[in-house]
Order: sequence, then C-alpha cells, then structure tokens
Amino acid sequence: MKQSKFHFEYTHYQSFDEMSEADNKAIDLAMATCEKSYSPYSKFRVAAVALFEDGEMLSAANQESEVFPSGMCAERVLLYNVASNHTQSKIDTLYIYSDTTSTICSPCGACRQVIQDVQKRQESPIRVVMCGLSEALVVDQSQWLLPFAFEL
Ligand code: THU
Repeated sequence: MKQSKFHFEYTHYQSFDEMSEADNKAIDLAMATCEKSYSPYSKFRVAAVALFEDGEMLSAANQESEVFPSGMCAERVLLYNVASNHTQSKIDTLYIYSDTTSTICSPCGACRQVIQDVQKRQESPIRVVMCGLSEALVVDQSQWLLPFAFEL
C-alpha cells in the first residue's frame, strides 16, 4: 500500500485591479455576456469566455430549456462552439463569471470534465479564471480542478 497526496497551487486575486489588462478585457466581456444568459428557471446567469492564444476571444452564456435537463452550462455552450467552429484555435485562458452570486463562480463537475477533455485534445494547458464580483481564483491548468478525470 502507498499513501499519496494531491497538491496544487492557485492564485487568489483580491481585486480585478491586480490582474492583467488582457484578463480585465476578458472579464468585461464575461460581464456583458451574462446578458445573453437564458435562465428563466434557475435565474442564475453564467458567462464563459475563451481567450485564444492569438488574443481573440469568444464568449457564451448558459441556456436553459423548457425540458429541464436539456439546458446547458455556459462553459459547455462555449467549448462545444469552439470545437465546432474554431478548430484551429487553442484556448489560453477560460474565464467563468456570474453576476447572480457574490461568491466565486467555479465550474460544475460535468464542465470540469469537458474543460479537461478540451485541454487534452489541444495538448496545451488551459488556465482557468473563476470570477467573483470583484475577485478571482486562478489555476494554471485545468486538471487541478478535476483530479483523476475520466479518460476513455
Ligand atoms: N451553470 C453554468 O452555466 N455553469 C456552471 O458551471 C454551473 C451552473 C448554469 C446551469 C444552469 O443554467 C444554472 O447555472 C443553474 O445551475
């Protein structure tokens, strides 16, 4: 038998002012993208932004459905769009933001798996920025959010 420990580091920015201009631009886009959320059932608006390695950005918001389980989190709306329409682009950073909660918005378990899938496919780390209203937690690679991720 062998006991092991899982250890990772993250950065806590206590204000967006401590973050780079590129981060602030992406967070501004995430704030604006919350308006695109269709969330009449949960009333919980989430936005996700992909900052690509070439500096371009793409955003998406959560979309709900009258058929309850058919809705989709902002992160997966975004990542499936990237996989379908931006096949040459690698994601440098993924931002997650909600204007509905004062606490930091971190991805659900299913989204963590999909972020991890995308990171694996693009063969380069995806930095993940989880935003609160004016602060953020940042991990430099998505696997820190999902140890022992499923692999086929
Ligand atoms: N939601 C996201 O968009 N991302 C997450 O990581 C967690 C939850 C959405 C799904 C649903 O529309 C609403 O937030 C409440 O769960």
